[in-house]
This record gives sequence, C-alpha cells and structure tokens, in this order.
Amino acid sequence: MSHLNPRFGSFQNKNIWIIGASSGIGEACAKLFHSHGANLILSARRIDALESLKAACLHNNAPSSKVDVISLDVNSESSIQEASKHVLENMKHIDLLLFVSGIYEPMRASDFDYQIVFNTVNTNLLGPMRVLGEMLPQFIRQGNGHIGLVSSVAGYSGLPKSLAYGPTKAALINFAESLYYDLHPKGVSVHLISPGFVATPATARNDFAMPALISPEEAALEIARGLERGEFDIHFPKRFTRFLKFLRILPYSMYFWILKKFIKI
Ligand SMILES: NC(=O)c1ccc[n+]([C@@H]2O[C@H](COP(=O)([O-])OP(=O)(O)OC[C@H]3O[C@@H](n4cnc5c(N)ncnc54)[C@H](OP(=O)(O)O)[C@@H]3O)[C@@H](O)[C@H]2O)c1
Repeated sequence: MSHLNPRFGSFQNKNIWIIGASSGIGEACAKLFHSHGANLILSARRIDALESLKAACLHNNAPSSKVDVISLDVNSESSIQEASKHVLENMKHIDLLLFVSGIYEPMRASDFDYQIVFNTVNTNLLGPMRVLGEMLPQFIRQGNGHIGLVSSVAGYSGLPKSLAYGPTKAALINFAESLYYDLHPKGVSVHLISPGFVATPATARNDFAMPALISPEEAALEIARGLERGEFDIHFPKRFTRFLKFLRILPYSMYFWILKKFIKI
C-alpha cells in the first residue's frame, strides 16, 4: 500500500530541525536521529536542557554529525524569526522539520480555565502554524523535504480531562491533512504523528493507569520507522491506536456508552 509520501530513507547526513527537543519524545528523537548520523538543530525554551542534550549526543554518537542549539518559544513571533533565520543560515537545505512542542493540562468542565485553554491552543496549534509561516516558503522553494507534526490520539475524538488539550490536537490533525493536500503536489511531505500514552514529564502527573504506555525511546523508534517508510499517518502503539480509530467511527450513543463503561477517570 502507498504510504502517501516519498520515503525519508536513511537519516545519515540529513538536516533536521526538532522543535520541542528539550525533554520527552523530542529528546528521544534527537538522540535516535543523531545516532543514525543526522545533523540536528535543537529548539525549545529551556536552553540548558538543550545544551545537555547536545553534549549527550556528541558524547554517545558519531561526532561527525553536527548538533546545534537555538532557543525558541513557539508563542513569540520575534523568537521564531530569530530561530528561523539561524536555521536557514546554518542549513541550506532542510530535510525534516519536526514539531514535537506541546503542553498538556488535564481539565474537566468543573475546573474550566480559559487562560489554560488559551495557552494550550496558542502553543499546540498556533505555535506550529506561526513557525510554518516563516518556514513554508523555504520548503516550497526546495521542492522537497518533510514536515512532521506531533498530534495525539486525544485529537481523534473527545475524551475525559481533555477539554483544553483535545481540541488542539484535533485541529492539528485537520491542519496536517489540509497541508498534505497542498504540499504533496509541490514535492514536500507531511507526516501526521499521533502517539498514544508515552511516559514523559507531560504525562508524569496523570493520576490514572495509562493503557498501552510506552517509553519515549519506543515512540522515537516508531516515528523514525514511519518517516523512513514515508507514512502520512504515523500512529502508535497500534494495539491502542487501532482501538481508538475504531471508536471514532461508532455512532455517538455507542461511543459514549463505551467511554463511560471503560474509562474511569
Ligand atoms: N506523552 C504522551 O503521552 C503524549 C501522547 C500524545 C502526544 N504527545 C505529544 O507529544 C509532544 C511531546 O510531548 P512529551 O510528552 O514529550 O512532553 P514534554 O516532555 O513535556 O515535551 C514537550 C516539549 O515541548 C516544548 N515546548 C513546550 N512549550 C513550548 C513553547 N512555547 N515553545 C517551544 N517549545 C515548547 C518543551 O520544551 P520547553 O519547555 O523547554 O520549551 C518540550 O521540549 C507534545 O506535542 C504532546 O502533546 C504526548
């Protein structure tokens, strides 16, 4: 079956900008891609964490591959302009721009907080859009390259405690689909990445048992495999994501019945 994009192939000597590399899934992707010979630019707000990651990459992996760090807040236009300029000066060609940045605040209707909703939409949805405002012309000029957007299975359909987070990820799915439609004819690949539960600082505060929980290293492997094959829809772990994909095609009466019966949070 066609995977909708050309294969990304080997990571050797590929130029990759990871946004949201300072912890969790982004950090694991950086380590994995670098161990396969990719040149990296690492971004997030916490520069100290990025510098430690850079040191770890260069210590453990092939030192011939470059690692560079540039701080970036996806909510700040000026920070985006500065970082994009730096990336374009240092990488004449970008093979992959990977958006892993995101925040997660569990919320129920009884503690609805508009400010948290605003911050979540701003970071998770408008953040990647803001960066792409600067970077899409470069990809269109190149006529190739890959853009990966980390969404979540929480975007498939409404889930408990997901009042702020879920809508941002649902919108990101829709955004990736529309982006694919426009960029594929121009030779630029788009990858929609939807993880299930991954054990990272973001989920460490969850006070419920997370089904099919995987490590950030497993998540990074799944992302690398999906990219290598050119998949548009990179979702994992399949034992969990396939079930959620099935739930979203059910009539709402069955969907809500199953949620009530099996999800006790
Ligand atoms: N863990 C899961 O179970 C799970 C499941 C599905 C999807 N996801 C998604 O996977 C992505 C990574 O999450 P994670 O679990 O690895 O969490 P994490 O360890 O908290 O990582 C989040 C990353 O986003 C960065 N970030 C947050 N706000 C930012 C901003 N304004 N500007 C730039 N970078 C920002 C953080 O860096 P700084 O704080 O240094 O800026 C950090 O590097 C998120 O998009 C999340 O929604 C996670």
